[in-house]
Amino acid sequence: MNNPDLIVAAETRSPVGVPALLSSDLEPLYLRRSGTSLLIDFSTGEAAMLHFGADLGLALPDLSLLGEAVPHSALDVPVTLGLIPQASSGWRGRPGLRGHRNGQAFSARLRVVSVERSSVEGSHGEDCSAVITQADPEAGVSVRTEIRFNDGGLLQLRHRLDNHGADPYSLDELAAVLPVGRAAIEILDLTGRWCRESHPQRLPLRQGTWVRSGRHGRTGHDASLLLAAGTPGFGNRHGQVWAVHLGWSGNHESFVDAAADGRTVMGASELLGAGEISVAANASYETPWLFAAYSAAGLDGISDAFYTWFRARPHHPGVRSGKARPVVLNVWEAVYFDHRLEPLLELAEAAAGLGVERFVLDDGWFRGRRDDQAGLGDWYVDEDLWPAGLTPLIDAVTGHGMEFGLWVEPEMVNEDSDLARAHPDWIAGPAQRSAGGPAGRLPERWRHQQVLDLVNPAAWQYIFDRLDALLSEYRISYLKWDQNRDLAEMGHAGRPSVHAQTLAAYRLLDELRKAHPGVEIESCSSGGARVDLGILERTDRIWASDCNDALERQTIQRWTGVVVPPELVGSHIGPTTSHTTARTHDLSFRAITAMFGHFGLEWDVRRLAAAERTELAAAIALFKQYRPLLHSGRMVRADEPDPALRLHGVVSHDGGEALYALVSVATSFAEVPGRVCLPGLLPDAAYRVEAVYPAADDRRAFLQAAPPAWLVGGIEASGRFLAESGLPMPVLNPEHGLLLAVRRVTAAAPAADPAANSAHPVRNP
Ligand code: GLA
Repeated sequence: MNNPDLIVAAETRSPVGVPALLSSDLEPLYLRRSGTSLLIDFSTGEAAMLHFGADLGLALPDLSLLGEAVPHSALDVPVTLGLIPQASSGWRGRPGLRGHRNGQAFSARLRVVSVERSSVEGSHGEDCSAVITQADPEAGVSVRTEIRFNDGGLLQLRHRLDNHGADPYSLDELAAVLPVGRAAIEILDLTGRWCRESHPQRLPLRQGTWVRSGRHGRTGHDASLLLAAGTPGFGNRHGQVWAVHLGWSGNHESFVDAAADGRTVMGASELLGAGEISVAANASYETPWLFAAYSAAGLDGISDAFYTWFRARPHHPGVRSGKARPVVLNVWEAVYFDHRLEPLLELAEAAAGLGVERFVLDDGWFRGRRDDQAGLGDWYVDEDLWPAGLTPLIDAVTGHGMEFGLWVEPEMVNEDSDLARAHPDWIAGPAQRSAGGPAGRLPERWRHQQVLDLVNPAAWQYIFDRLDALLSEYRISYLKWDQNRDLAEMGHAGRPSVHAQTLAAYRLLDELRKAHPGVEIESCSSGGARVDLGILERTDRIWASDCNDALERQTIQRWTGVVVPPELVGSHIGPTTSHTTARTHDLSFRAITAMFGHFGLEWDVRRLAAAERTELAAAIALFKQYRPLLHSGRMVRADEPDPALRLHGVVSHDGGEALYALVSVATSFAEVPGRVCLPGLLPDAAYRVEAVYPAADDRRAFLQAAPPAWLVGGIEASGRFLAESGLPMPVLNPEHGLLLAVRRVTAAAPAADPAANSAHPVRNP
């Protein structure tokens, strides 16, 4: 149950009384995983973060001698960079903890109480996770920090603050931070808007704080999925990079804080509203997980760490279900709100004929929903549109051998709905209201809708029951779970409630998954406004953007993919002329773009010309052929010097095969592209490279008198040759792509070449 009065107190309770302080003779904590390490020293009595970055090997110096110099006009002792950076240790950067008891106890002095260490199988007996507890008896608080170092090098860190005092502790911020190496002098993060999510921006790292605030109540179209800092010009495959991500779908801040003393930290925290978190006596507050990675080989190394973590989860789609990600057809851009059985049956038949494996009925099927102005909240199949319910459509879809998926937007309500008319007080807003009473002042509408107050147990239960009933009544394998507005002025009982609402939405997903374990869920939020590892812990894919324009998608998917592996990123072939940009693209470019994701269609494929249908069916078959590789391999993005070209690919972990896409996003300055490098293969293995799509003589894709000689029959070359010298590429027209399949042709690696600098191909075709 979601009791509003226990928003905070309902979280884990701690034992009464502040834990006793330990002496400071604890062994340092040195966690190492997959080339990355974290070093925390306790010799000052505080958890002092000495290092996060490259593995430091086994021989560590005497850490107690590593305190900084004491400069003039400064604190008389060296300043510690704590696990919770605090003013009580002289830290003048952004504090890790801000809170008070009615204006008192405003500055905590946290000291180490306990350190629990543990290793996991496969970590060679070394510590790879730990729990550090620090406490301040005077302030009456303790902070328990959980650290997990996952295989692949992805670090997870979160804090729990326990209030041991008799009165409530008002929490303003509890941040998770990590040190960044001095070599980092450049910041990269992502921003965006509707239909243009996940675009990178770079800036120099200067003294001061670079903060990205998300006040949308949801993750946000402009959210920085990744905040990175690194060495000058760090790229996809070169340079040192430190990166963080906050696994949270509510308000948040991520920041790089370069202090005047020369040290830099990066981190993130939940952004709390005024008075939002008051931690009751003997109650606690827990932060979301901070995820962090370090790479000595550019952003691809960061992706390796995230992908390894995702794919090791027992509930990762594919791992959980044991089945490949089905090819989807979503009807949205085919029919919008025009829900009529006959055309939908035709669409299902056409989809099945093309090789589609999952058919998703989008918005418009429930009571009163004829457009986007009414109906949200009334989660009953509309009797006028569907006199026999959804069964005729579902039977047809499943009869064709496809799964059936359904769109829902459970966290929202239209004022024009039976639900809002019956329960005006279930609409979230800033006003304090009583049960059954008027709604009070409401936030401005957004897409004509408001937010349903899921912190209200009755509202939560109603939504759970409706979704549970639909999933029980119909053969639904998949929910497209949408969330189409910011949570502005989000309040419950007159207090800010984004925190509680986010947890309530999480709990709704968790409980439904428990009740219907076979159902997959997609997280959509006006496209990609809720892409984060908090929502992805309880969903099976994200909808990266409402923009199906392949050119836009090249950027959106490339950068979403730095964190999220392709099997989790919904990616559809849209109509020939994009509904969101009016750009027209050939099918080959649209298909090559959609292949590097969870592939699907969002297009009225009922009346395609015969040639187009044949090409589309072939593209779907091609995706299915490479799906196991695309959804399990390592992502490779070349540092392509020509801004008009992009090269990305997926290479299998054993280096045995790869699929690359060369994409032209503009016209090039050069007459011919020259030799484009294909990095990421085993240097000393021999490979066969073949152009698979489109055909070499496709006049729409290429503008040339003749293609490079190898393009027609393929070529064999070593991984080193392909990475260092590359292959001459055809002249692609702008906004076209070329798919290249690479297969290893020798079983054993040849002996190391003594003249390592000469890059001769291993075999000549
Ligand atoms: C949002 C989604 C779209 C579609 C519509 C339906 O905009 O992002 O994909 O589902 O809602 O209203």
